[in-house]
Amino acid sequence: MTRILGISGSLRRDSHNTSLLRAAAEAAGPDVQLELYAGLKEVPPYDEDDDVHPRPASVARLNAAIAKADAVLFATPEYNASIPGHLKNAIDWVSRPVATNVLRNKPVAVVGASIGAFGAAWAQAELRKVLAALGARVLDFELPVPRCHTLFEEGELTDEEIRAGLAEAVVALAGESRAREHAKAVA
Ligand SMILES: Cc1cc2nc3c(=O)[nH]c(=O)nc-3n(C[C@H](O)[C@H](O)[C@H](O)COP(=O)(O)O)c2cc1C
Repeated sequence: MTRILGISGSLRRDSHNTSLLRAAAEAAGPDVQLELYAGLKEVPPYDEDDDVHPRPASVARLNAAIAKADAVLFATPEYNASIPGHLKNAIDWVSRPVATNVLRNKPVAVVGASIGAFGAAWAQAELRKVLAALGARVLDFELPVPRCHTLFEEGELTDEEIRAGLAEAVVALAGESRAREHAKAVA
């Protein structure tokens, strides 16, 4: 069983990005479990003075959830042509200490939805850049979901092409995490 953690970059209740992750969980095969992370709003602003042992409980929880997962699927909205601040803030917390950060060598993929025409493509690119800087195994994969407000009915995805894209991301993440386990086993 491959465990994928889904992290939405949107905190709002009716978020299209969170709905995308729910659709990805539904699209996952029986050998993949995709769980959504729910505690991003509790993560405080990063302050190096607070980055001492024990870390804030919300940060420790996020760190443990990522550590436990075989792979992470991010769904990010685009805020002013970039990643939402609270998502970057959460990643800044888990990026320390950088040499042993919990995202290092972790297979990750990024998708994203926006109400505009470009489907959060810039935010996805920025998030991939940040994750690569931390040493994550960032899949060469992009799923721009433009005009996302037209693609859901009561939170349910109605677009089959996007659903297929989400399934592809999940399959690729599962494959990458199996390859990583295999490489570790033979090392
Ligand atoms: C602060 C803020 C900045 C935004 N900036 C952009 C932007 O640069 N590009 C874009 O396509 N949409 C932008 N949007 C609109 C988002 O695409 C839209 O709110 C989207 O639904 C957010 O995703 P969610 O449904 O998962 O919350 C912005 C929204 C907010 C609140």
